[in-house]
Amino acid sequence: MNRTFGEFSAVAVAHPNIALLKYWGKRDREFVLPVTGSISMTLDIFPTTTRVTLVPGTSADRVTLNGRPADDETFARVSTFLDLVRDRTDRTDRAMVDSANTAPTGAGLASSSSGFAALAAAAAAAYNLKLNARDLSRLARRGSGSACRSVFDGFVEWHAGIGSGRHGDNSSFAEPIETPRWNPALAIALVDTGPKAIPSRTAMQATIQSSPLYLAWAFSTLHDLPAMRAAIRDGDLTTVGAIAESNALGMHATMLAARPSICYLSPPTISILHRVTELRKGGVAAYATIDAGPNVAVLCDVSAASQVLKELGDIDGVLATHLARPGHGVRVYDGNVA
Ligand code: DP6
Repeated sequence: MNRTFGEFSAVAVAHPNIALLKYWGKRDREFVLPVTGSISMTLDIFPTTTRVTLVPGTSADRVTLNGRPADDETFARVSTFLDLVRDRTDRTDRAMVDSANTAPTGAGLASSSSGFAALAAAAAAAYNLKLNARDLSRLARRGSGSACRSVFDGFVEWHAGIGSGRHGDNSSFAEPIETPRWNPALAIALVDTGPKAIPSRTAMQATIQSSPLYLAWAFSTLHDLPAMRAAIRDGDLTTVGAIAESNALGMHATMLAARPSICYLSPPTISILHRVTELRKGGVAAYATIDAGPNVAVLCDVSAASQVLKELGDIDGVLATHLARPGHGVRVYDGNVA
């Protein structure tokens, strides 16, 4: 990357990912180490574009989101993340961060995954921190766990790793899963685009602390993870979908059983789940997954996607539908400001 005297800047573009095997619960909150491994698909829609520009001589970072100054909590999270990058370099300069999201923020469409993947890549480039893709995923993980998977194209596994602290940090990274020629798609039904009632970070911690179902769900991933990895390598959409749906519903079951209960599912969410079951009865391979929000993503073959999108769009309470295919991992552009 070219450098202009006094101005170090980089732009990165990252896409959100949707987990087919969920990350839900940390064993180490400081290092963002998950209890279980997870598997996702990086989308080809809703990119986040983030520019990081070093501003020597200023005393504080500046953060804007979609053109507006970030709220205090987001600012603190971004600035703390930049400290992690600065700690690894010899530069102490503060930075200006401008991030533009195309997904509805906070609606369970994983904008924190694209957000922190883009921030990690842009900040590493701006601060001239050279990282391979695995180490970039480890860095992105510190901002938001799911962000480590958005570093890579298509289908991605995040390895839980072993241990806590520095040891766990080294062993917990994402990497792509080799796929055959297949044509998976996610039909996404938006039923709510407002902010979440409870942030996923808070909800997963409350679940781990109080849900009697949590351990059973976590144990189930010990079987599901290798089975899904193998099915993705085989291009076996039916097996991938069946595991994904059970895993996501299991995750929501852990939350429903938390004390007090956490319920992200709204009436249209339930209607969509029933419609997906009917589609399957009618011979369409379609499988639902739900993140920490009421929206639903339905895994299907691209040849069935228009039918699935239409069926979802016809359900009362569905505000919009989107088609996503496997997309690119994070990319850094020459963001040098002349
Ligand atoms: C339900 O990655 O947003 O989307 O690490 O606390 O920032 P933090 O959590 P985050 O949680 C994502 C939860 C999920 C499942 C998943 O993406 O695997």
